[in-house]
Amino acid sequence: MAYQASAQFYDLFTLGKEEEQAFYQLLAQEVGSPALELGVGTGVFAFHLAEDGITVVGLEKSREMLQEARKKLQKAPPEIAKRLLFIAGDMSDFSLDQQFRFIYVPSGSFQYLTTRKEQLGCLKSVKAHLHSEGSFVFDIWVGDSDPTGTWRRLETVSLPKGGAVTRSISTRAQESKGIIDTVLRFDVHDKTGRITDTFYDWSQLAIMTVEDVKFLLAEMQFQVETIYSSFTRAPWTPEAERAIFVSEPI
Ligand SMILES: C[S@@+](CC[C@H](N)C(=O)[O-])C[C@H]1O[C@@H](n2cnc3c(N)ncnc32)[C@H](O)[C@@H]1O
Repeated sequence: MAYQASAQFYDLFTLGKEEEQAFYQLLAQEVGSPALELGVGTGVFAFHLAEDGITVVGLEKSREMLQEARKKLQKAPPEIAKRLLFIAGDMSDFSLDQQFRFIYVPSGSFQYLTTRKEQLGCLKSVKAHLHSEGSFVFDIWVGDSDPTGTWRRLETVSLPKGGAVTRSISTRAQESKGIIDTVLRFDVHDKTGRITDTFYDWSQLAIMTVEDVKFLLAEMQFQVETIYSSFTRAPWTPEAERAIFVSEPI
């Protein structure tokens, strides 16, 4: 499963997510508290929302990611920590005893739901937990994905105790199945640059189009308010590689 081996490295590779973070922070301020993040991971966005005074529940399927989020929670100042709750769960089917003003799925995580049943199940669960004047927001990647499985080195970051980690990716898009098989590889280097350890994480992502999502949202009685192509709120155009949906319940 995805996000097991890589959980320990996740926060080292969150550089470049500032625009996305600012986007969710601003939306949360506009829409209001409480918020629910699906696939919350290590809580990168959730912590920022909590710092802004938003109460956030984070739902996460990977035990290892949840552990990282909870470790950070233990070290957080009490006034932030009191606004955060990280719980184990599957976004394709969840039941919480609470309603939310803002439900969001950042970082393209909706595409980890690879079957129509899972996608509709997620929307059904979201609907059941969304305040009647609330917003549901998520993004999908609609750009091309490498069909060949060739390894691409993404970046190398230094480790706090010395040495470094290099993150590489291999994607194999299978158009006929509507799936992208993705492998992330993390090579740990010592101070001399020698690789001392390697970790792999496998996952499958759904290939989705804007039309697919519109159809799913309509089927579950969500109204699409806006589609952006970037986290700076540029309007969506057919050339865009990302689509960010802001929707509300009908
Ligand atoms: C790309 S990470 C995003 C983490 C965090 N939201 C962020 O933006 O930094 C995707 C996360 O979604 C989680 N995930 C994948 N499928 C899930 C599911 N069905 N239910 C809950 N979480 C899931 C993964 O374990 C992983 O932590």
